[in-house]
Amino acid sequence: MRRFENRLYLITGAARGLGAAQAQRLVAEGARVVLADVREAEGRALAQSLGPAACFEPLDVGDEARWAEVVAAAERLGPLHGLVNNAGIFKPLPIAQTDAELYNQHVRVNQLGTYLGIRTVVPAFERTGGGVIVNLSSAAGLIGVPNAVAYTATKWAVRGMTKAAAKELGPRNIRVNSVHPGMIDTEMVRERDAAVNQALVNQQPIKRMGTADEIAGLVLFLLSDEARYMTGAELAMDGGRTL
Ligand SMILES: NC(=O)c1ccc[n+]([C@@H]2O[C@H](COP(=O)([O-])OP(=O)(O)OC[C@H]3O[C@@H](n4cnc5c(N)ncnc54)[C@H](O)[C@@H]3O)[C@@H](O)[C@H]2O)c1
Repeated sequence: MRRFENRLYLITGAARGLGAAQAQRLVAEGARVVLADVREAEGRALAQSLGPAACFEPLDVGDEARWAEVVAAAERLGPLHGLVNNAGIFKPLPIAQTDAELYNQHVRVNQLGTYLGIRTVVPAFERTGGGVIVNLSSAAGLIGVPNAVAYTATKWAVRGMTKAAAKELGPRNIRVNSVHPGMIDTEMVRERDAAVNQALVNQQPIKRMGTADEIAGLVLFLLSDEARYMTGAELAMDGGRTL
C-alpha cells in the first residue's frame, strides 16, 4: 500500500510553489488533497490537473469564518488526517520602510493564518482520532534576516507556536512540526533581485537554491507515520545557510 493511501490532507497556499509541489507528491503517493489558496484560477487549474484525488477551495488564511467552511468542506470528503500551513507572504524591506500596514500584512497571513489553521483543524482531527500539522516557517525563523523584519518576526512566531501547540496537542494524538526552508526556487524568491539571491547562495556550504520538490519530500516525511515519534521539531532544509 502507498504511504498516504486513503488519507485526506489540506494544504494552504497550494496554487503554486512549495504548496503545489506538496499536493503533487501527496496525490502521487495515494492521498486525497484539498488545495486552498487566494489564487483561485491557478489553484483550480492545478487541482483539475491532479485528477479526482484533488479539489480546490478558495481560502484567505486570515479569514476565520472561511477557515471553518473549508475544513467542513474537507470533512465532507472523509476524515481529515493532516494540515500543511504553507501559505505565506514575503515582502522584504528595511525597518525604516516597513510601515505598520506592511508589518500587519505579514502577521495576518504568516502568523494569524497559521494559528487559525491549527485552531480550526483540531476538532476535525479529534473526530478522526488524531492528526498531523506541518507549519512552513523559514530559515528566517531560525536566524535574524536583515531588511526583512516583518517576515522574520512572523516566521519566529510560527516556530514558537509550533512548539506550544505540539505540547498542548500531543496528548490528543496530534503532532505539530515546523519546516525551515532556505532559498528555494519559487516565484516568492524569483520576485526578488537575482543578484541578492546569488550573493546569499554563494555564502552557503551548498551553493545552489533548493527545489520545491526537495521541501515537499521533507513535508511528506513529517506527515507520514515514519515521523510518528516526532513533534515540536524544527527541521531546516537550507543548504547549510543557518549553520
Ligand atoms: N521559497 C522560499 O525560498 C521559502 C523559504 C522559506 C520559507 N518559505 C515559505 O514557504 C511557504 C511557501 O512559499 P513559496 O515559496 O511556495 O511562495 P509562493 O509565493 O510561490 O506561494 C505562496 C502561496 O501562498 C498563497 N497565499 C498568499 N497569501 C495567502 C492568503 N492570505 N491565503 C491563502 N493563500 C495565500 C499565494 O497565493 C501562493 O500561491 C511560505 O510560507 C514561505 O514563507 C519559502
